[in-house]
Amino acid sequence: MKKISLTGIKPTGTPHLGNYLGAIRPALELSKTYDTVYFIADYHALTTVQNGAEMRANIYKIAATWLALGLNPEEGLFYKQSDIPEIFELSWALSCFTPKGFMNRAHAYKDKVAKNEAAGEDPDANVNMGLYCYPCLMDADILMFSADIVPVGKDQKQHVEFARDIAIKFNKHFGQDVFTIPEPVFQETTGIIPGLDGRKMSKSYDNVIDIFLDSKALKKKIGKIVTNSQGIEEPKDPDSCNVFKLYKLFATPEQTEALAARYRAGGMGWGHAKQELQNVLEEHLGAAREKYFYLLDHTEEIDKILAYGKEKARVKSKAMMEKVRSLLGTY
Ligand code: ADP
Ligand code: TRP
Repeated sequence: MKKISLTGIKPTGTPHLGNYLGAIRPALELSKTYDTVYFIADYHALTTVQNGAEMRANIYKIAATWLALGLNPEEGLFYKQSDIPEIFELSWALSCFTPKGFMNRAHAYKDKVAKNEAAGEDPDANVNMGLYCYPCLMDADILMFSADIVPVGKDQKQHVEFARDIAIKFNKHFGQDVFTIPEPVFQETTGIIPGLDGRKMSKSYDNVIDIFLDSKALKKKIGKIVTNSQGIEEPKDPDSCNVFKLYKLFATPEQTEALAARYRAGGMGWGHAKQELQNVLEEHLGAAREKYFYLLDHTEEIDKILAYGKEKARVKSKAMMEKVRSLLGTY
């Protein structure tokens, strides 16, 4: 039996190249060797997205992104978290086995408290219970479907470790291997994808390049990538250049070498480098872009795929919840 790779992405906006290279592409790569459980974490997004129309649009965008980039909904599981009521039931049950101290130490909560304190505010200002209990819901996501590995960004490591600790504790408490002990996996080679300004590409820094942009919009975005003021004739250092950093994540090793040589030789301006980045992005994402916009124009097809995913996933989640409830004595 193949092992299970599970991950979720929050529908918090339009997916960008950082999401693609840091989360979606590695997860799709794993589908060659693992059974996959990939989902849209809409109730995690609810800690910040609190407008129905916006949430709905974001869910379609994330679903269309996964599907356009090659996720096959016939294989593995692909669903929307909110469609699986058992996850919320399990989340409560697990929260009763989770030390409150874990949540106090969870980094998203801790960061927020630190910021509030630095600003002289109440430590819990603007902290909703969803943010505070976020890791408990994530534990349920992961343990429900017996994930062996969880491909995530480094920022999520602590959350997966909570899930491990709770799984071990729960199994020990009941003397049974109810839950599989999950392992976080990271994409070491990709690292942190730089945004337009060279900082981590992130919606919160407003420095992103969306995955799917038409040629004109893409050109405009790439034009905004910050470079230095070296003139065309000067030799340039590829490794410190934000354009090159993105280029090499899409180009073949030969293409990468060739462009690096042009940087070092001089006689190549930033406009040329940016055109090369545009070419390689068009080549990689052009076909997926067509599919993405087709799906967004035919959301009834996405609805159908998610309804199918829901049915398939609930066979598993109902069975798991039955096992858990019988141990808890809640029926
Ligand atoms: P954002 O910072 O834009 O809000 P999210 O936190 O929603 O992005 O990230 C969703 C997924 O994409 C996570 O798995 C995260 O690790 C990955 N990711 C986001 N930005 C980057 C980046 N710049 N480099 C690598 N991975 C990223
Ligand atoms: N918390 C993750 C993020 O912010 C999204 C997520 C929710 C997730 N549930 C998950 C990731 C379960 C992996 C496994 O990116």
